[in-house]
Amino acid sequence: MSTVMQEMHTDIGLVNTIVARSSLSFINGEKGILEYVGYGIDDLARQSTFEETTYLLWNRRLPSRVELAEFNTLIRSNYDLSETLWDMIVSLPRDASPMHALRTLTSALALEDPAADDPSIEANTRKSIVMLAKMPALIAGFDRHRKGLDLIRPNVEATIAENFLYMLTGKKPTERMSRAMDICLILHADHGFNASTFASLVTISTLSDIYSAVTTAIGTLKGPLHGGANQGVMYMLQEIESIDAVEEYVLNKFANKERIMGFGHRVYKSNDPRATYLKTFAEGIAQDTGNIDLFNKSQRIEEVMDREVGSKGIYPNVDFYSATTYFSLGIDLDLFTPLFAMSRVSGWTAHCMEYLAENRLIRPRCDYVGPHEQEYVSISQR
Ligand code: SDX
Repeated sequence: MSTVMQEMHTDIGLVNTIVARSSLSFINGEKGILEYVGYGIDDLARQSTFEETTYLLWNRRLPSRVELAEFNTLIRSNYDLSETLWDMIVSLPRDASPMHALRTLTSALALEDPAADDPSIEANTRKSIVMLAKMPALIAGFDRHRKGLDLIRPNVEATIAENFLYMLTGKKPTERMSRAMDICLILHADHGFNASTFASLVTISTLSDIYSAVTTAIGTLKGPLHGGANQGVMYMLQEIESIDAVEEYVLNKFANKERIMGFGHRVYKSNDPRATYLKTFAEGIAQDTGNIDLFNKSQRIEEVMDREVGSKGIYPNVDFYSATTYFSLGIDLDLFTPLFAMSRVSGWTAHCMEYLAENRLIRPRCDYVGPHEQEYVSISQR
C-alpha cells in the first residue's frame, strides 16, 4: 500500500469533481444539452414513453417492439402491493408528509423481499422493477388514505402514467393528461450525478442493497434545493397575487437574499432543456384547465429573472414549469416531489447497477481544522 499521500484537493460541494464515468446521461451545461445514452431529451419527450426510456437507461439501448411489450407486461404484473403494504399505507398518520410516507413505504418493500440483499444484476433488475412499478400505488394510495378515500387498486392494462392518475383520482384520465404525465416522467428520469443519485451511489458503493440506496435517494431528493423546489415554485406562484405584483415580489426576494425556486442550476448555465420543453407543454395544459394565470405569472417571473440575473447564468430549471404542469393536472402541491421520485427511481437504479459493475467504495477525505493533543480533564475536575 503506497504510503505516499496522493495530491489532495479541496472542492467544497464537489462543484468541480468527477467521481466516476457513466454512459447514462450527458449534460452540456453551457449549451443546454441533455441526452440519455446519447438520445436527445427532446426526441425522447416527443417520441418515447417513460417505460421505453427506463428500458433505455437500464439496458443502454432502445428495446425492440417485442422487448418493449414484454417489459411493459413485466412492469404491470408488479403494480399491485401486498396486503401487508396496503395495510401499512392505511396505518400511517394522515397528516404525514407524502415524502416521509414514500421514503418509509419504499423502504418497507425490502421487508417482504427474500432476495433484498442479493447483489446480482438479475436480482437488482427485478428489485428495480418492483420499486418502479409500485411507487405509483404507494404515492396514490397514501394520498387517498390521508383524504379518507377508498384505495384504488392498480389498472394492469394501463401505462405507469395513466395508472398513477387513475389510482389517484379513481377516474380514467384523458389521453392528453396521461401523455402530459408520461412526458414529465421522461423528463425527470435521469440527470447525471445530481445529489440524490450521488447519494444512492454512496450507499450502493458499500455493497448495501438497492432498496437502501433508493431510500437514501428519496431522503436526499426531498430537500428544497433539489427535488423539493417544484413545490416551492407553486407556493411562490400562489403567493404572488397578480402578474403586476411579480416584479416587486422577485426584487423583494433578492433584497432579502432569498432564492427564487425553480431557477439556477449547478450544471446548466444556460437554459435547462427540460424547462424549455416543459414550458411549451405547460402553456397548453394551463390553457385547457383554466390555469393560464399561473403560466402568465411564471413567464413574467422568467422575464424579471432574465433581466436581473440572466447574465449570471441563472435560468429556469426543470422544476419551474413542472409546477404549473402538475398543478394543472390536478396534483396536490405536496405530491410534486413524490412524482419526481416516481420518475427518478429509473435513473437512481440505472446508476446503482452501472456503478456496481466497477464498484469502488465512495469515501472522500475532509480537511481537519479542529484542535490537537488536548489534555483530558476528569469529570470530577470540570
Ligand atoms: C434540481 O443537479 C441536478 O441535476 C438537479 C436536478 C435533477 O434533475 O436532478 O436538475 C433537479 O434539483 C434542479 C434545481 C432545483 N433547485 C432550485 O430551483 C432551488 C433554487 N436554486 C438554487 O438554490 C441553486 O441554483 C442550486 C442549488 C440549484 C444550485 O446552486 P449552486 O450551484 O450551489 O450555486 P450557488 O448557490 O453557489 O449560486 C451561485 C450564485 C449565488 O449568487 P452569489 O452569492 O455568487 O452572488 O447564483 C445565485 C446565488 O445567490 N443563485 C440564485 C439562485 N440560484 C443561484 N439567486 C436567486 N435565485 C436562485 N434560484
